[in-house]
Amino acid sequence: MKGILVAVSPEGVIGKDNSIPWHYPEDLKRFKKLTLGKTVIMGRNTWESIPEKQRPLPDRRNIVITRTNVKDVECFNSIEKAVETCKGDIWYIGGAGIYKEALESTNPKVKADIIDMTLVPDNISGEGCVEFPKIGDEWDAGPVEELGMDGNLKHQTYTHRV
Ligand SMILES: NC(=O)c1ccc[n+]([C@@H]2O[C@H](COP(=O)([O-])OP(=O)(O)OC[C@H]3O[C@@H](n4cnc5c(N)ncnc54)[C@H](OP(=O)(O)O)[C@@H]3O)[C@@H](O)[C@H]2O)c1
Repeated sequence: MKGILVAVSPEGVIGKDNSIPWHYPEDLKRFKKLTLGKTVIMGRNTWESIPEKQRPLPDRRNIVITRTNVKDVECFNSIEKAVETCKGDIWYIGGAGIYKEALESTNPKVKADIIDMTLVPDNISGEGCVEFPKIGDEWDAGPVEELGMDGNLKHQTYTHRV
């Protein structure tokens, strides 16, 4: 399984000023539950957006995609090279460039099979916003469901049509 794990605002925003402009413990718990013991692949900005004390994310294989080199974490200069080394489940955890490649790649070793999307209610706009890429027609949208006890969050899964 290779999945995209993301939380988006109604406008499709995933981040602003290199951080996530909302805080939902329920969603963080879900993120942890899904990713523990798996490989998480992220872009350099997403790595830098995680507070130093909390990274690398514990009990997961952390991989950063960068054309440079980032200390204290395993780095690759392409997703392709990273996935060649991976065994088991992979979660692409952002940001926009990583999601775009995982959504659109023609390489079956890279392309995601599912999108696990949390829908947050916060309206976010303005400078510094990063948006989730367009989801192509080859993805089937599942039903929108309530997520957990927060009451505010919804959840939707997309699967890739083969
Ligand atoms: N809502 C969510 O679920 C969620 C999840 C994750 C992140 N976020 C937010 O998203 C924002 C960060 O996303 P972003 O799009 O700005 O940055 P990003 O994708 O995390 O990082 C971009 C950097 O990653 C490297 N990179 C990305 N794709 C690459 C590729 N195909 N090949 C080689 N290197 C590649 C490059 O690093 P170099 O410049 O070093 O070469 C690039 O500058 C933050 O606001 C963060 O909080 C939100």
